[in-house]
Amino acid sequence: MLKVCVIGMGPIGNLHARIYRGDDMVELAGVCDIIPERAEAAGEQHGVPYYLDAETMLREVKPDIVSVATGGYEYSSDHMKPTLQALEAGAHVLCEKPISNSIEDGRRMVDTAKKLNRCFAIDFNHRFTPAARAAKAWQDEGLIGELLFCNMALWIGKPQDFESPYYHLKALNPHSMEIIRYFMGDIEAVQCFAMKSSGRTIWSTASINMKFKNGAVGHLTSSYDIARGHPMERCEVAGLKGRLVFEDMWREATLYPAGNPEKRVYTNPVFGGYAGFDDTFRDRLRSFVREVAAGTRPEDIDGSGLQGLKAQMAIHAAIESLDTGRVVYLDELFPD
Ligand SMILES: NC(=O)c1ccc[n+]([C@@H]2O[C@H](COP(=O)([O-])OP(=O)(O)OC[C@H]3O[C@@H](n4cnc5c(N)ncnc54)[C@H](O)[C@@H]3O)[C@@H](O)[C@H]2O)c1
Repeated sequence: MLKVCVIGMGPIGNLHARIYRGDDMVELAGVCDIIPERAEAAGEQHGVPYYLDAETMLREVKPDIVSVATGGYEYSSDHMKPTLQALEAGAHVLCEKPISNSIEDGRRMVDTAKKLNRCFAIDFNHRFTPAARAAKAWQDEGLIGELLFCNMALWIGKPQDFESPYYHLKALNPHSMEIIRYFMGDIEAVQCFAMKSSGRTIWSTASINMKFKNGAVGHLTSSYDIARGHPMERCEVAGLKGRLVFEDMWREATLYPAGNPEKRVYTNPVFGGYAGFDDTFRDRLRSFVREVAAGTRPEDIDGSGLQGLKAQMAIHAAIESLDTGRVVYLDELFPD
């Protein structure tokens, strides 16, 4: 049984804690928040010791795995400190997305995990679903072939104001950028247009064009401006042999073989299928736990910190493009 702790007991940290409590491979052994009321409420809710200080918890509990679900400026500036503390205490870490709002901090997190030989992953729950796996299996079987293009879109109503004009770009798009890179490979260059919809002070809707190192092209549309309720996510990947689409994370994946009018569809089953968004978190957390339990090498972890850092670099390159009006080459913006 692996011992797990959660740091950052907001809505998402509490969701992680609930999921760990329902996983028979782990024991939730402690929760922590710097806000006393949040720490205490979480300790009571989950029936585990609670702490106000991560280092004390890490020293006393000695967890095998730590979930970091802190937030902060641009929903991620608080991730680095507890991630480094947990890694240095010997734990494997699953950190919420984005890895960080700062590329420098993200690099430090990835480098520290590598130096200490710990597994470090990001919560890319949007693609930890059977539908996304079916789509990837089609690609791996060669049914997509030489890659041509990808179209990704994610929109979710968040009408409130935020402290940073780049909040939507940095906080929403890690999922999409990681999915794009998962199917399409490394991004060479990006170009971004964005708008602030009526009354807003942040870039709330964006259009990002990209070129991949393998020569294929792609696009991401993202928005905080569309009210919730309808479908909200769509990924299309096309190659010489076929085109796949997966929608709303777990609902449906469709393969359109080139030149063949018969398509193949994976549909979320009514019985035993995913009932909602929380199931994507469950899948992602359980996957990480099982990889750690199986002794997976840190460099082979699915949805790793390094992948999270590369996704974030593409977003920062898009912001650079938005600010300068230029096409931005990632290797120039982030030389090794
Ligand atoms: N994967 C997803 O689909 C998804 C969805 C929503 C949010 N998120 C991410 O989840 C994270 C948390 O979101 P939230 O809405 O619960 O945030 P939140 O701000 O409500 O909660 C974060 C908590 O972390 C605590 N904290 C900060 N630094 C700490 C430290 N060093 N030690 C202990 N506690 C600390 C804060 O006091 C706060 O209570 C964010 O990074 C966000 O981007 C992911």
